[in-house]
Amino acid sequence: MLSILYKPIQDVLEWLKYNAKGFKKRKDEHMKRYGLIGERLGHSYSKVIHEQLASYTYDLIPLNKEEFHDFMSRKEFSGINVTIPYKCDVLPYLDHLDKSAAHVGAVNTIVNKDGTLTGYNTDYSGFLYTLEAHNIKIKEEKVLVLGYGGASKAILAVLKDLGASEIIIANRTLKDGVVSYEEAINSHNDVTVIINTTPVGMYPNTDASPIDLSHFGNLSAVVDIIYNPLKTKLLLQAEAQGIIAVNGLEMLIAQAKDACQYFLDTSLPESKITEILAQLEAELKTK
Ligand code: ATR
Repeated sequence: MLSILYKPIQDVLEWLKYNAKGFKKRKDEHMKRYGLIGERLGHSYSKVIHEQLASYTYDLIPLNKEEFHDFMSRKEFSGINVTIPYKCDVLPYLDHLDKSAAHVGAVNTIVNKDGTLTGYNTDYSGFLYTLEAHNIKIKEEKVLVLGYGGASKAILAVLKDLGASEIIIANRTLKDGVVSYEEAINSHNDVTVIINTTPVGMYPNTDASPIDLSHFGNLSAVVDIIYNPLKTKLLLQAEAQGIIAVNGLEMLIAQAKDACQYFLDTSLPESKITEILAQLEAELKTK
């Protein structure tokens, strides 16, 4: 008699156990969300890049300020990248800050492990990779950085760490720590490396250039973090002067690879960067 009663109870318990597992699985699947948050993401290549780096789906998630707070509070993601204007705004939502992010003072990668959020900065390693890939020497060199916005932060940290002898920052708006473009041309035309961190020259304003390189007689390399177009007016001028000219596409791919490694807690070969770079460059050239 007892066993007759016991059987249905056992069945119910089994059913509950099975469905609880299913629920947990569905919840976990929901949690496996990867993507990029920022204000305007229409132009982003991050989806294409990430989906070649790993077998996850990578969403572009444009958020206004209100949506941003809600998104960060809900934490319904496994790993996200962060772009303009939220790279500093995410700081209060994080439980841990990796030393890369603490060093730069901005976060572009967040990993959610069981509800605990850790922030990283892979713009730093992405820029470092670009310099190394093109043998651009920074140690004891005098470097001119154009622009002093969000994008310059990781770049300035790398230049300092690599031991630049002097870093001059030129900015349109004058503030502490910067010089005007005019002063850069008149008093710092001995720089050997120029890095453009402004959007000047980016599509559709491709006829604009942040500075005229003909004033700089000692230049050996110019890096422009813009990648659309692949060759900005600034880079075309550098090439015409026989100077190493590098766009921002490699940095974008390298930072994505490092972010992907944090997301999946894995290591990817550096050859992935060159593979994706070649493919994207070919695609962009035909556009
Ligand atoms: P952020 O990256 O911080 O969101 P941004 O608007 O993309 O900001 O600007 C980044 C940098 O590019 C800033 O140094 C900005 O100069 P200001 O501080 O004077 O705004 C610079 N910048 C943007 N547009 C520019 C332009 N048309 N001419 C010169 N510099 C420009």
